[in-house]
Amino acid sequence: MISKHSVRIILVVLSVVVMAGGGLLVKAQLIPKSFGLYGSYRADAIEEEAQKVVRHGTNKSCFECHPYEAKIHLQGDHKTISCEFCHSTYADHVSNGKRTAALPVKKGEEITTLCLRCHNTEIKARSTIVIKTVGMPDHLKQQNVKLTHTCNQCHHVHAPLKYINEAKKITGLMEEKP
Ligand code: HEC
Ligand code: HEC
Ligand code: HEC
Ligand code: HEC
Repeated sequence: MISKHSVRIILVVLSVVVMAGGGLLVKAQLIPKSFGLYGSYRADAIEEEAQKVVRHGTNKSCFECHPYEAKIHLQGDHKTISCEFCHSTYADHVSNGKRTAALPVKKGEEITTLCLRCHNTEIKARSTIVIKTVGMPDHLKQQNVKLTHTCNQCHHVHAPLKYINEAKKITGLMEEKP
């Protein structure tokens, strides 16, 4: 005779066995085939990633078609900045070595917003040793200009100190001979 107590224990053990077995079965169904072939990841993922269309180019990839911008960019303080940060991805514009569409070109206020994404003093997490920042509208007040001025009215977008330095030289000369 099995006591009521033993029946309960058997039921508990049985349900544990059924749950564990079921769990293992579901796990076997859900794990992708190529998982674990090289390591604890899906081996097929490598091939799938490699098949993806390349969307970004290097700055060098822009240079052959844009020699004018390339020359200015390489001479200025923005030479380390990616063209695509300010414009858009290579693939939106060029396919198989041919221009296929237009890239967005920012204007006016949009340019100020773009510049301040990197140069805003308000970004406290960024060290000013790494990148020089300005506070707005203080920077414009210091220059004694209307606060509606956009950054590119004084700074060349591709080489931001290009004309500033020349302007400083000229104003410097004027100060000597008023
Ligand atoms: C810091 C942001 C920034 C970077 C980096 C940058 N550009 Fe620009 N670029 C702009 C802005 C803003 C304009 C439009 C305003 C202007 O020309 O003053 C522009 C204008 C242009 C134009 C002229 C578009 C037109 O039809 O008016 C071309 C072409 C261009 N850039 C290519 C490049 C290439 C190539 C690179 C990399 C070597 C590059 N840019 C890097 C911001 C940038
Ligand atoms: C295969 C040549 C080619 C390559 C590579 C190329 N461009 Fe262009 N791009 C053009 C042509 C052609 C135009 C039309 C205007 C012109 O003749 O300058 C243009 C125009 C532009 C413009 C003005 C907006 C427009 O689309 O009309 C920008 C900005 C620009 N390119 C940025 C870039 C950047 C950034 C790269 C690299 C990521 C790049 N280009 C790579 C050929 C190219
Ligand atoms: C992706 C980030 C980024 C963007 C966007 C950007 N810059 Fe820069 N800028 C830099 C870096 C990095 C330098 C080189 C380090 C430095 O001098 O601060 C630099 C240098 C400069 C300098 C020279 C600072 C000095 O005295 O040495 C000026 C001026 C400047 N940028 C203005 C602008 C303007 C205007 C715009 C918008 C058209 C702009 N930047 C957009 C990152 C950026
Ligand atoms: C009215 C002209 C003018 C406008 C508009 C202007 N700047 Fe300047 N900026 C200057 C001058 C002049 C300097 C000083 C350059 C120097 O001392 O070498 C300067 C310097 C800078 C510097 C270097 C600061 C440093 O610590 O050395 C940065 C960064 C800068 N500007 C970014 C910007 C940004 C971003 C905008 C738009 C929000 C902007 N500027 C708008 C004229 C201007």
